[in-house]
Amino acid sequence: MSYKPFDLTGKVALVTGGNRGIGLGMAEAMAQAGADIVIWGTNAERNIEAEGKLLQYGVRVLAQTVDVSDEHAVVQGMNEAVEAMGTVHSVFANAGVGYRSNSFIEMTTETYRKTLAVNLDGVFWTFREACKHMVARAKAGDPGGSIVGIASLAAISGPARNQAYAATKGGVVSMMKSVAVEHARYGIRANAILPGWIATDMTAASQGNQVFTDKVISRVPSRRWGQPEDFGGIAVYLTSDASSYHSGDSFLIDGAYAIF
Ligand SMILES: NC(=O)c1ccc[n+]([C@@H]2O[C@H](COP(=O)([O-])OP(=O)(O)OC[C@H]3O[C@@H](n4cnc5c(N)ncnc54)[C@H](OP(=O)(O)O)[C@@H]3O)[C@@H](O)[C@H]2O)c1
Repeated sequence: MSYKPFDLTGKVALVTGGNRGIGLGMAEAMAQAGADIVIWGTNAERNIEAEGKLLQYGVRVLAQTVDVSDEHAVVQGMNEAVEAMGTVHSVFANAGVGYRSNSFIEMTTETYRKTLAVNLDGVFWTFREACKHMVARAKAGDPGGSIVGIASLAAISGPARNQAYAATKGGVVSMMKSVAVEHARYGIRANAILPGWIATDMTAASQGNQVFTDKVISRVPSRRWGQPEDFGGIAVYLTSDASSYHSGDSFLIDGAYAIF
């Protein structure tokens, strides 16, 4: 007899920023485990490409053009997803942006606001609309649900020249804990994932930088960049019934970088 809770057949998982990078890595793993998938992104072409990849796993896929920095778009997007898929069991607030600055004292207010708009406002609206749906479902007799915020190692380390980004990621962890405590009575759990150095479009400049490779990646005990597929296992776990008593936690997935 095999252990069944990791079978996601019948579950619906929504991933913001699911058309590439870490979001697509999580979405592909959950689709392979049998979950129907909803992805959000602002780029319609990338959405279509990712939708095609996910459909290969034989699950239902809905790709929506949703800008998470737009409250109305998030409200409408969540309503449309629930309408189309019947329900949503897990929601991964993963969409994120990072803007480099030469120093904190040169960091513009525009950069600060743009970072907060996606990484913090977007997570707030995504969490709130997901909870709205899950609480209503619980009150109708079907409790449960999994809320996941994709934060960063930057939430717990001191990333130089990255104060706006770090603030948003620390905020995601705090918001997650607050959501977890308030919604446990509905069977809803909330957790955060903190990726370390992951090879995606967001880190493209660093991947091509020899100084960065020598000074940072060579210090990662796992001796490599993390890959989007390294986030598949945690996504399947957090959507599955195997994690039904696991809430309020932060999962650091960084090849042991932070403890070295
Ligand atoms: N890569 C790393 O080393 C690393 C480390 C720690 C944490 N993280 C976090 O992990 C998450 C995913 O990062 P990644 O590395 O996979 O980045 P990525 O490859 O640049 O992908 C970002 C994703 O977010 C979407 N997105 C951006 N702005 C959006 C908006 N306003 N509304 C909706 N979707 C939006 C993008 O889709 P569109 O282009 O279609 O909008 C894309 O799917 C982010 O929250 C990031 O901060 C990454």
